[in-house]
Amino acid sequence: MGIPNASVVEARSTFWLTLNAAQWTDPDPLGEGTVGPLRLDYRERDPSGWLVVHLLLGRRQMTARVFFDRTIRIPVLAVPSTAHWSWWEIVMSFTPNEWLSHWPFVRQAEGHVLIGGLGLGMVVRYLQEEPTVTRLTVIERDPHVVRLIRDRLNAKVDVIVGDFWEEVRRFPDATFDSAWVDIWNEVHGTRTPEHRKAEAACRRVVKKGGVAKAWMGVVPFDTWCDFLSGSIPSPYRERNRNARPTTLLRRRRSGQARLAVASGD
Ligand SMILES: C[S@@+](CC[C@H](N)C(=O)[O-])C[C@H]1O[C@@H](n2cnc3c(N)ncnc32)[C@H](O)[C@@H]1O
Repeated sequence: MGIPNASVVEARSTFWLTLNAAQWTDPDPLGEGTVGPLRLDYRERDPSGWLVVHLLLGRRQMTARVFFDRTIRIPVLAVPSTAHWSWWEIVMSFTPNEWLSHWPFVRQAEGHVLIGGLGLGMVVRYLQEEPTVTRLTVIERDPHVVRLIRDRLNAKVDVIVGDFWEEVRRFPDATFDSAWVDIWNEVHGTRTPEHRKAEAACRRVVKKGGVAKAWMGVVPFDTWCDFLSGSIPSPYRERNRNARPTTLLRRRRSGQARLAVASGD
């Protein structure tokens, strides 16, 4: 199982990748339903539909189209639209883009970890299983989000219902070993002033040498290559241990370029 030649991949701004749906299927899904104004739902993608991954190579942004080999259900969280009474607006989802753009932090987090923004709990649900993570303190302002996820959280996790900007101030300097903030619904790609402010707030409360980062929504290119090589586990790794990784990478404009990454089941 090898990484395809990265320079070949880089040569096109759009490329396609077929993923093994079994790796991305939550064996213990959150379920459907509403909590207050939130609606937890699923969007189906059959093998003809795709999802986008936003990639970052240096300062250059690219996109990849991700397909699944079987129909998959992606969890999404929607709120009533402000534009029309009958519309719902998706504010969170759990696509490969979300998972891979969180991965650089997930890989580095250890000890007592501060998380700003619980969301669908994907980072927290993963980190709470990590033996190197001893404790998780989560700041989430929406009590409905907390209600939605709290049954899935273990004893390592403390949730503070409140505003990140206010709550983070209450912690003394160097309280945590690692910190991560994801309180945005949009992919930014670059550090906005708000990202800088969030990272500065995290740096203060993180011990020297610890990681303090804010989510921007893009997947660093080396993370993408690690993913193609199979070294990034499934977000639902424990129960999907036997699912094989990525099946096939196809370049858009040259049908002959079938870059085999690993064989699927
Ligand atoms: C995109 S989601 C986070 C997804 C999360 N990274 C995960 O692992 O599923 C953003 C979350 O941040 C919360 N949020 C937004 N602004 C906030 C703030 N100022 N303080 C605390 N939480 C906030 C939202 O309610 C939402 O639950």
